[in-house]
Amino acid sequence: MKKTDVEVQSDVAMQDVADVAVDQEIQETATAETTPAFDDVAEQMKEQTEREKQIEADKLLPPDPDALLEVRHLKKHFVLKKTLMGKPLATLKAVDDISIKIRPGETLGIVGESGCGKTTMGRTILKLHQPTGGQIFFEGQDIAGFTPKQMRALRTKMQIVFQDPYSSLPPRSTVGDILSEPVKVHKIVPPDQVKEYVLGIMEQCGLRDYYYERYPHEFSGGQRQRICIARALAVAPKLVVCDEPVSALDVSIQAQIINLLKKLQKERQLTYLFISHDLSVVKHISDKIGVMYLGSMVEFGGTKAIFDKPLHPYTQALFSAVPNPDPNEKVERIILKGDIPSPANPPKGCKFHTRCPKAMEICQHIAPKYREYDEGHFVACHCYEQE
Ligand SMILES: Nc1ncnc2c1ncn2[C@@H]1O[C@H](COP(=O)(O)OP(=O)(O)OP(=O)(O)O)[C@@H](O)[C@H]1O
Ligand code: SF4
Ligand SMILES: [Mg+2]
Repeated sequence: MKKTDVEVQSDVAMQDVADVAVDQEIQETATAETTPAFDDVAEQMKEQTEREKQIEADKLLPPDPDALLEVRHLKKHFVLKKTLMGKPLATLKAVDDISIKIRPGETLGIVGESGCGKTTMGRTILKLHQPTGGQIFFEGQDIAGFTPKQMRALRTKMQIVFQDPYSSLPPRSTVGDILSEPVKVHKIVPPDQVKEYVLGIMEQCGLRDYYYERYPHEFSGGQRQRICIARALAVAPKLVVCDEPVSALDVSIQAQIINLLKKLQKERQLTYLFISHDLSVVKHISDKIGVMYLGSMVEFGGTKAIFDKPLHPYTQALFSAVPNPDPNEKVERIILKGDIPSPANPPKGCKFHTRCPKAMEICQHIAPKYREYDEGHFVACHCYEQE
């Protein structure tokens, strides 16, 4: 049956409506494909502005009177390549906006994979590297801008124990000379009391008095590390940065050195920044723990809180590898995919997203904020931003 003109017109109208709908759908799909859900450049600029605002606001805050060391937004960037005019072309952000606090007598453990910036952070806090940015309050004084001359007066209060006890002792000096030299230079005691003072420190560090005349090559790794610890303590410091102090030692010796560090901490009210990649050691010695990934702190909190309830997927993966002494408690090992990316070219958004088992779309584009989840327990992960 032939359709009337009205019916034909109505069919055409219906077809037009359908075509428009299809066109719209095609257009919407095309727009969705060409316009990403996140504008990465805009997000980065927004994040940068917010960070700078926060840094400026924090600069005005007075230092925490309860903290021996308070670090705010610390940065250490190494310039890898420069133009002929000296303008940086490529930089490596070894430490990128880290904030920590340590109270007198506390131990803060720092963990993270090789290359995440632990040593650089420790050395920058001691001003062995000049910081690129941030504040370092030591006993309430911001030392970030201190000159080497100003730092000389503080050197006795801040010491470091290195990982390798073999290369950190001069081979041609006796133990007595090694330990006496800093005591004389910094005039810790009157010259006629130096030997007696040094012998006292040696005894505290478990070194026999007849070692005084001996040379470093005559000692084992554990004894050499005791000498290094004695040398650091000889100038009566308040803060000691222990950079992997037991990693180069046999497992049987490690416990002795850790126990020595704990004993000395009690006797001398020392404050430790204890760097290690060995979580069992860090758990044993630390009051608080900071977890680093590619130059940033991803989680920070009390040792118990962090071990009982690790929040960040990176911390969860690291801790799942620690052997559990309780055979009834099964912990599923989380194996991270891929290698740690280069800190010279870290991933955009959350730096961990390329390896994170919980990564979401947003993680590729927007860096998560470092925020306090529970009292004193900080984390940087989008999983906790909605709560
Ligand atoms: N002087 C330097 N110049 C350029 N890059 C450096 C310098 N010192 C360190 N880096 C780089 O900074 C990053 C952090 O190094 P750092 O030694 O602090 O790591 P780490 O966490 O202590 O590693 P490890 O556990 O192996 O000791 C690394 O990529 C390293 O190559
Ligand atoms: S922000 Fe995303 S990628 Fe980063 S740790 Fe959290 S879930 Fe993983
Ligand atoms: Mg290191």
